[in-house]
Amino acid sequence: MRMQGKVCVVTGGARGIGRGIVETFAREGAAKVYALDMNDKEFPALEANFPNVKGAVVNVTDSGAVNALVARIKEESGRIDVLVNNAGITRDNLIQKMSDSDWDAVIDVNLKGVFIMTRAVAPLMMEAGSGSIVSISSVVGLDGNIGQTNYAATKGGVVAMTKGWAKEFARKGAKVRANCVSPGYTRTPMIETVPEKVLEPIIAKTPLGRLAEIQDIANAVLFLSSEESAFVTGQVLRVDGGLVL
Ligand SMILES: NC(=O)c1ccc[n+]([C@@H]2O[C@H](COP(=O)([O-])OP(=O)(O)OC[C@H]3O[C@@H](n4cnc5c(N)ncnc54)[C@H](O)[C@@H]3O)[C@@H](O)[C@H]2O)c1
Repeated sequence: MRMQGKVCVVTGGARGIGRGIVETFAREGAAKVYALDMNDKEFPALEANFPNVKGAVVNVTDSGAVNALVARIKEESGRIDVLVNNAGITRDNLIQKMSDSDWDAVIDVNLKGVFIMTRAVAPLMMEAGSGSIVSISSVVGLDGNIGQTNYAATKGGVVAMTKGWAKEFARKGAKVRANCVSPGYTRTPMIETVPEKVLEPIIAKTPLGRLAEIQDIANAVLFLSSEESAFVTGQVLRVDGGLVL
């Protein structure tokens, strides 16, 4: 039980990788896992299967709503031990076809949303003297990709913010850590629109010969959220089967 007694917050927790992380934390004995998402359709099933999971509707780009929710969680559970910044979107296009609104939407959720969530939660962790923040980047944030100017900018930005936070949040003896997980292509609803003809060559050049499964990513997040990684901060853990773009 590697999350025994911990209070955890996971954004984008209703489906895909976020849901896998929520369920993994719940199975690993977390006291409470708050699944934050804009979409509440899946919350009844999640809460029915896991009594230690609670769904909360919030848009991570809405700083007023995020601050109010974090204050409510503090009141209800007393603290937040783990924050996973997972919510993310794509609006892919070649740069000459990428609209201002495609750029703004992705920056808003993937970059500003991570900033807003961390700004709300990190002070509670620093006050408590401990905590772990894990943000989901992407191989695209490290290596770039055709048609993903906006997405690559956000995922690279998350890595840069994380390295700064590792220094900023450990001041005054606080054991508050910040790390990233950088998944390769992972079988979730997000990549349902990616044609198999695009995925096949990626699988072919991946040494481990497949795409990631949700549990592969959740296991890496579990390690960085638990005490097993107590001396790890400011790092990016690639979970991509050895893929180098
Ligand atoms: N699937 C992949 O291949 C892959 C690869 C690398 C990185 N990632 C990253 O992993 C994370 C999860 O991806 P996924 O594939 O599970 O995506 P997904 O689309 O399946 O799920 C994302 C969830 O985030 C929620 N969400 C979106 N915008 C939100 C907002 N503004 N506020 C609150 N919730 C919001 C959605 O409602 C959804 O439930 C993302 O950050 C993504 O960029 C995914």
